[in-house]
Amino acid sequence: MTSGLLVSRRQLLAGVVGVGAAAGLSACGLGPGPNPVGASAIAAAESARATTGKVRDFVLRAAPAQVDLGGTVVTTWAYGDSLPGTAFRATAGDRVRVAFGNELPEATSVHWHGLAIRNDMDGVPGVTTPEVAAGGSFGFDFVVPDPGTYWFHPHHGMQLDRGLYAPFIVDDPADPGDYDHEWVVVLDDWTDDVGPSPEQIYADLKAAGGSGGMGGMNGMGGMDGMGGMDGGDVTYPLYLVNGRAPNDPDVLTAKPGQRVRLRFINAGADTIFDVALAGHDLTVTHTDGYPVTPVTTSLLRIGMGERYDAVVTLADGAFPLVAQPVGKLGQAQAIVRTGSGTAPMARWRPSELDAYPLTVDALRADPGTALPAKDPDSVQDLLLSGSMGPYVWTINGRTYDDTVPLTIRQGQAGRLRIRNMSMMPHPIHLHGHTFQLGSAGGTGPRKDTVLVPAMGAVDVDFAAENPGQWMVHCHNAYHAEAGMMTRLDYVT
Ligand code: C2O
Ligand code: CU
Repeated sequence: MTSGLLVSRRQLLAGVVGVGAAAGLSACGLGPGPNPVGASAIAAAESARATTGKVRDFVLRAAPAQVDLGGTVVTTWAYGDSLPGTAFRATAGDRVRVAFGNELPEATSVHWHGLAIRNDMDGVPGVTTPEVAAGGSFGFDFVVPDPGTYWFHPHHGMQLDRGLYAPFIVDDPADPGDYDHEWVVVLDDWTDDVGPSPEQIYADLKAAGGSGGMGGMNGMGGMDGMGGMDGGDVTYPLYLVNGRAPNDPDVLTAKPGQRVRLRFINAGADTIFDVALAGHDLTVTHTDGYPVTPVTTSLLRIGMGERYDAVVTLADGAFPLVAQPVGKLGQAQAIVRTGSGTAPMARWRPSELDAYPLTVDALRADPGTALPAKDPDSVQDLLLSGSMGPYVWTINGRTYDDTVPLTIRQGQAGRLRIRNMSMMPHPIHLHGHTFQLGSAGGTGPRKDTVLVPAMGAVDVDFAAENPGQWMVHCHNAYHAEAGMMTRLDYVT
């Protein structure tokens, strides 16, 4: 532990030097112009965070593992021996220390998705935190500022599309929770050791220019009639709920009449899911950690990287909890059981899936969580485009190697105007911040990841209160790898 921290400090210094020296990023990226904020601004922001004074220590191991997906045992990479990895749990304001060990055969990193933590712990190699070499270790140490449903995963090549993901739940000391059970429901699209590896699929997409039909690539192509949603670029052999395929699903048990809080996390690399609990309506209460005015729906659409919390009062029986991959064939499923009835067949399709799914447009921020109303000091565009042949995805016409980062000054109000010029939806994620959809002080929900529809547009406002260099990218792992990433740099 101690030596891990010592190593980490040294690596950290090396990493900071590395940012300035990274040829690819600095050449076109920063160029001459305003300086990025330094370590002292990051440290000052950390010491300004409200704390409980409590310290939570975690041990985390990334390693090759054999995992039972429900009848199919695969060899993959995971956090510990379970899929998803064991959830981390803390209270808002706690100081979290993670002794991380990398037992994978290659370098990795850990990114704490959605948590607005100090920049140098954000886990993006080459930008914030140095990568952890094979056999290496790193000591993370940060205050978790906000309650909610978060998760963590590598920010390293295609590793996210293996089994490296786990929930991170941050409790609100002011909210004891009005429910009998709480279930975390993690959705995933799975190929590793069943189909081609993620790296192989990416290489095929690059080589074929996305012409489709080869192993792992989505041969369905184009529109599928489901509201014009393209089905992603990859066909997966399996779709999972909590690491299990439908033949031998996860079973969540309660008593009839009990109230349950469901915390949905889409950990998929290339799959948007529509989620329903057969015979029940879901009352959505939070998205990406932040409360919304509760709204009831039978079907909920969740993009990659997004989280939704919903409460439900359970009937008597056994009910499939299904996640339909949008625009793809297949189904992910768990069983909710409160009675002795027989569980329905593995791929039974409940009628809730025929409803029109709830999307962010229908959500309103809980009034207490709106950003202070303020006209933006800075308005910047984020144009999303790309092509399948050649397989390249861009922001503002550039891939990440060649990006011109967005900039902001600490204390400013920022607006990003996201314009999707492509025929695919893209879940756009901003690290280190929770923006408000629409305008600050308005009614749009607070989120850190927003699914921008094909040819659609979304404006988001954010308060520049967390200095550093932050990734802004598509949470489709294949799109991100093919270039659909940029940065938001705090400058002085
Ligand atoms: Cu979960 Cu950079 O993302
Ligand atoms: Cu994308």
